[in-house]
Formats: sequence, C-alpha cells, structure tokens
Amino acid sequence: MNVLLTGGAGYIGTHTCVEILNAGHNAIVVDNFSNSCPEAVKRVEEIAGKKVLLFEADVCDNRAIDRIFAENNIDAVIHFAGLKAVGESCEKPVEYYRNNIDSTLTLLEVMKKYGVNNFVFSSSATVYGTPKEVPLVETMPSGSPTNPYGWTKFMIEQILKDTAKANPKLSVVLLRYFNPIGAHESGRIGENPNGIPNNLMPYITQVAAGRLKRLGIFGNDYPTHDGTGVRDYIHVVDLAKGHVKAIDYAANHKGTEVFNLGTGVGYSVLDIVKAFIKVNNIDIPYDIKPRRAGDIAECYSDPAKAEKVLGWKAEKNLEDMCRDSWNWQSHNICGYK
Ligand code: NAD
Ligand code: WQD
Repeated sequence: MNVLLTGGAGYIGTHTCVEILNAGHNAIVVDNFSNSCPEAVKRVEEIAGKKVLLFEADVCDNRAIDRIFAENNIDAVIHFAGLKAVGESCEKPVEYYRNNIDSTLTLLEVMKKYGVNNFVFSSSATVYGTPKEVPLVETMPSGSPTNPYGWTKFMIEQILKDTAKANPKLSVVLLRYFNPIGAHESGRIGENPNGIPNNLMPYITQVAAGRLKRLGIFGNDYPTHDGTGVRDYIHVVDLAKGHVKAIDYAANHKGTEVFNLGTGVGYSVLDIVKAFIKVNNIDIPYDIKPRRAGDIAECYSDPAKAEKVLGWKAEKNLEDMCRDSWNWQSHNICGYK
C-alpha cells in the first residue's frame, strides 16, 4: 500500500514510518515541521534502508494536500499531524482547534475527491476524561476531557464517526494511545520536545543527561500503591506496530472502529523513576511537588479488543522502555540538533 503519514516526521510518526516500511509498504510523509525536522525522516530512511517520499506542507492547506493526492496513488492515511501540548492548549485554544480540526477536515475533503477510503487517526486516552473506573474499555463513555487539546481529539473522533456513517465506503480506525515512551532500539530516532518537557519520560532523560537538575514528582498523596500517579506506559515501537495492523484492518472493513493501544499495566511515577535508575545505572534526583492541575490518579487500558480484533499486543516491557529512552537521549543530548 502507499500510506500517507501526516505528521510523519514527529515522535510517533517516525517510529510508525519505520514499521510501515518494514512491512513492505511505501511511506509518504507530509509535515510542516512545526514540531519536528527533516533530519528525523532521513534517519527513518537510514534505519529502514528504504526511501520516504517527503513533502513539507501544512495539512490545513487544501491546495498543497490536493497536489500530494493528485501526484501519488494513496491507499491509506494515518493522521498524526496535530498540536499536542496540554498546557499550551489551555493558553492557545483557538490555535489548537484550528490546527487539529482543520487538518482533519482538509484530509476528509481531499480523500473524498480522490476516492481514498482508509483513515487511521491518532486519538488519545484523554478522550475518556476523568475515569470512573479502570481499566478503560472502548465501550466506556468518552467526553469531558480536561483541556482543549483533549476536546480536539474528542471532536475529531465525532467528525470521523459522522463522516463514516454518511459514506459507507469509508473505513475509520480510531487509535486511543495511552502513554507512549521509549525509542527505536537503534537510538537514531526518539522523542524530541521543544523547551522544558511536560511529559514524564523526556523530563527524566533530560535530568539523566544533565540538561535539567531535578525531577519534580507531581503529588504523592493519590490513592495508588505508592501515592504517585499511575499510567499505562507503552513502548513507541509497539505502538507503531499497532498502526500497521490498523491499516490492514481498515483496508478490509468499513465503518468506524475504536481501539485502545496500551499494555493494560499501570505503573506509578516512582515505579518509572526506580526502573530507570536500575536499568541505566544513573541517579535521578527528585523532589515531591504539589499535584499538577488536571492530573488524574490512575489511567490504564484494557487492551483486549486490539488483541482480539487486530491481532496486536504490546511486547516490550518497562525495562525496554527505560533502556531505549536513555539510549536515544544519551546519543542525542540535544535531540536532532
Ligand atoms: P509530534 O509533535 O512529535 O508529531 C506531530 C507532527 O505533526 C510534528 O512533526 C509536527 O510538525 C506535525 N504537524 C503538526 N501540525 C501540522 C500541520 N498542520 N501540518 C503538517 N504537519 C503538522 O507528536 P507525537 O507525539 O508524535 O504525536 C502524534 C499524534 O499522536 C498527535 O496527533 C498527538 O496528539 C497524538 N497523541 C500523542 C500522544 C503522546 O503522548 N505523544 C498521546 C496520545 C495521542
Ligand atoms: C505522567 C505522570 C504526572 C511530569 C499526557 C496527556 C495525554 C497524552 C499523554 C496526548 C503523571 C507525572 C509528569 C513531571 C511528574 N498525550 N509527572 N513530573 O499527563 O498522563 O498524559 O501525555 O494525547 O493527553 O495529558 O502524561 O507524562 O505528563 O505524566 O510527576 O515532570 O507523570 O503527574 O502522573 P499524562 P505525563
């Protein structure tokens, strides 16, 4: 298949691109490099030993996207392109709604024009809002995300469900990611956040690298086994492989299907810090800080549907995640620069 990956130069996009190429598909990437750089795609080519067709364009730009569809015989689209920083989305909601929703609408319009009917979307566990119970199952209610970023994901899911209902040829796969961490085992691609990281693992690796002094742990009074927040961390390579299964599924089904992509195992912040210290033999100094606004105590998936229907299951463990995160960071102290 010729697979278009929007945002394919980003963290999850690059890892998925490698797996798409490894599976024998062709990869076409469109990215505006608002949160990435062309070097990341060069490294994908180096790892996979195959070429990627790369276009620098904004996915909200209908004419540019139309040209990409006109010139390439695209079979499936994986839509990663989006703004993703929770805190920033509260400060710049219009930018988030415009970018994330407009890019999706543009793709749907152009896909319809060119008769492309397979769409895989990067959704998020954030659409479940504050869970009433865990593990989270796809049939549980979504809605009430705690920030504008989460609302863009919720709204896009609805737009895609409505569009698939109206167009019986369309196949939509909504992938709800839990907490992706880790990096490709080569250490050549990985997460490269701008500025001070918001997420736990890049913060830890930057402390380990000496770029940041100490980790702040946001709260140790949650009702969890050690008082710190519990999440479902998933290795980004496992997540990437889930996308290969999803495009195969989309090619053979119609309508909308939702899948959790997680491991089903919850680890606390302290579990992650301790595992990182043990696996990499590096100290991570930390302080306990107050809870972070908007955080929940526990969030982890029931991933059974993805295993049953897609034949996908996360294979890597916490040790792999900690080792590969550090392997990437230690060989690329300043990311791709
Ligand atoms: P990322 O920022 O590394 O990748 C997103 C890519 O999209 C970047 O390369 C950026 O330059 C590009 N982009 C953004 N807007 C664009 C536009 N209008 N046109 C073209 N390119 C554009 O983020 P990521 O972690 O790889 O996330 C990928 C997707 O997965 C996002 O949609 C994100 O919301 C979703 N997601 C991420 C996580 C996570 O924790 N990383 C969790 C759940 C869902
Ligand atoms: C994990 C745990 C923090 C940083 C976010 C988005 C979610 C999804 C994934 C896109 C929590 C604690 C963190 C730090 C800490 N993204 N922490 N010190 O909040 O589960 O999810 O990223 O869809 O939508 O909300 O991930 O990595 O920020 O936090 O103690 O410096 O680590 O409190 O318990 P989160 P995270």
